[in-house]
Amino acid sequence: MSTTLRINGKTHQVDLPDDVPLLWVLRDEVGLTGTKYGCGVAACGACTVHINGEAVRSCQTTLADVDGEITTIEGLGTPKAMSIIQQAWVDHQVAQCGYCQSGQIMQAANLLADNPTPSDADIEEVMQGNLCRCGTYPRIRAAIHSAAQKMQEA
Ligand code: FES
Ligand code: FES
Repeated sequence: MSTTLRINGKTHQVDLPDDVPLLWVLRDEVGLTGTKYGCGVAACGACTVHINGEAVRSCQTTLADVDGEITTIEGLGTPKAMSIIQQAWVDHQVAQCGYCQSGQIMQAANLLADNPTPSDADIEEVMQGNLCRCGTYPRIRAAIHSAAQKMQEA
């Protein structure tokens, strides 16, 4: 079945069954490999992307579920033109192995869009579904506070 998707501001046509998870469409069809596979059952957050600005687990979102503009980590910014939140991640050297971090950033970007000045408790509540086997949680929290401050100043 042919489906038209809007991803990071571009239009893509894909010809796939409508029960295919968005994660595999992004990675295997469109080549956006920044979005990662962790658990496949919406339990880790590694596959987090935005649809119309809302964080969703792309492993449990089928092609048929997609209704709106998709944004992936590649759509937030580029290595030469990073978004404020991506720059905060670099400044705080958040990543260890890095595997979970695109999902962490996408979840955090949604948090900051909804709540520009989150408390530690707000961060804990929203980010608790994004797991990091390397235990980078304190640096994630620091980077979110830093990004929040920079966004206020911008
Ligand atoms: S791979 Fe989707 S939540 Fe783990
Ligand atoms: S940085 Fe390794 S899993 Fe999070």
